[in-house]
Amino acid sequence: MSRIALGCMGLAGTWNPAEVGPEHRKNAIAAFEAALEAGITFYDHADIYGGTACETIFKDCLAAFPGIREKLFIATKVGIRSGYFDHSPDYIRQSISGSLDRMGLDYVDLYQIHRPDPLAHPAETAAVLDELVEQGRIRAVGISNYFPQQTLALQKYLKAPIVSNQISISLLRLDPIYEGAEGVAGSSTARGGDGVLDQCLELGITPLAYSPIAKAWLSGKRNVPEDNPRKEQIERTVAALRELGPAYNDATPTQLAVAWLLRHPSRIIPLVGSNNPTHIREFAAAATIELSRTDWYKLWVAARGVRAP
Ligand SMILES: NC(=O)c1ccc[n+]([C@@H]2O[C@H](COP(=O)([O-])OP(=O)(O)OC[C@H]3O[C@@H](n4cnc5c(N)ncnc54)[C@H](OP(=O)(O)O)[C@@H]3O)[C@@H](O)[C@H]2O)c1
Repeated sequence: MSRIALGCMGLAGTWNPAEVGPEHRKNAIAAFEAALEAGITFYDHADIYGGTACETIFKDCLAAFPGIREKLFIATKVGIRSGYFDHSPDYIRQSISGSLDRMGLDYVDLYQIHRPDPLAHPAETAAVLDELVEQGRIRAVGISNYFPQQTLALQKYLKAPIVSNQISISLLRLDPIYEGAEGVAGSSTARGGDGVLDQCLELGITPLAYSPIAKAWLSGKRNVPEDNPRKEQIERTVAALRELGPAYNDATPTQLAVAWLLRHPSRIIPLVGSNNPTHIREFAAAATIELSRTDWYKLWVAARGVRAP
C-alpha cells in the first residue's frame, strides 16, 4: 500500500447524509481521482464519518473507476456512537454490515476499533473481531487511540494480530514519540510520552497518523490567533519547517511535516485529511522526501522548544 493514506472523514463534505447531492459527489470523486493519480492506494473511513455519508459516497467514487477496488487498501472503524463508545458484539456485527453495504464491498482490508470502550471486556471484543476475520468480512484488525496496556489487553484474547494503531501524531503532538521531560511543549502527559510508537516497534504494529499537520497549523497557511495558547510553538515550528524548504527542493511546510513522520523507523502512515485536489497532491509528494537525521532533530527541537541534551 502507499506510504500515505487519504483520510476520508471529510469526503462527503457534510455530516448530514440528507444534504448530499450531485455537487458533493462530484467533489468527492475529484478528490478520489487526485489521490489515485498521486499514487494513494490506502483509504481510511469510519462508520460515523459524515454521519455515514462518507462511506456511501465512497461507493460512488469506486464506481467511477471500474476495477479499482482490488488495487486498494480500504479501512473503516467501529465503536463510537452518539455520545458514547460501544464495543458490544451485536453492535459491531451490525456496524460492519452497514459499512460493507454503504461502500458496496464484500470485505474491508482493515477494521479498526475507533476508541477503547471502558465498559467492554477485551475478550468479548476480541471474539467478535476474530469471528469477522473468519467470515472473511474483514482482512485485518486494527485499533485507534489505544494506549500500550489497552493494546496488550486486547491482543491477549485476539487470535488475529493487531496490525495498526491509528493515533494523533505530528510535530504538534509528540506524546507517542518520546519519553521527554515534564512540561515539554507538545506533551499533554505528565511523563511527556505515552510509549505508543515504542510498542509499535516492539510488536510490529504500523502506526497510522491522524491530524499529521495538526489540522493545518503546520501548513503555515493558517494565521495563528493571538489567543491561541500554543501560538509561539506553532510559529516556531512552522519557521523551522520553512527554513529547511530550500534544502529539499523547495518543499513546503506541509510536506516537511509529513516527511518528518515518514522518517520514523516504525513506518508511520500519515493520513491526509482533505477534499482539495491541490492539497492532496502537495501532501502526497512528501512521500519522496528523505529528511536527514540532523534536520529531523532540528524540527523536533523546534517543536519541543527544548534543546536535545
Ligand atoms: N481515529 C481517530 O480518532 C481520528 C480522528 C481524527 C481524524 N482521523 C482520520 O485522520 C484523517 C486526517 O485527520 P485530520 O483531518 O484531523 O488531519 P489534518 O490533515 O491534520 O488536517 C486536515 C486539515 O488540513 C487541511 N489541509 C490538508 N492538506 C493541506 C495542505 N496541503 N495545505 C493546507 N491545508 C491542508 C485541510 O483543509 P482542506 O480540506 O482545505 O484541504 C483540513 O482543514 C481523517 O480524515 C480521518 O481519516 C481519525
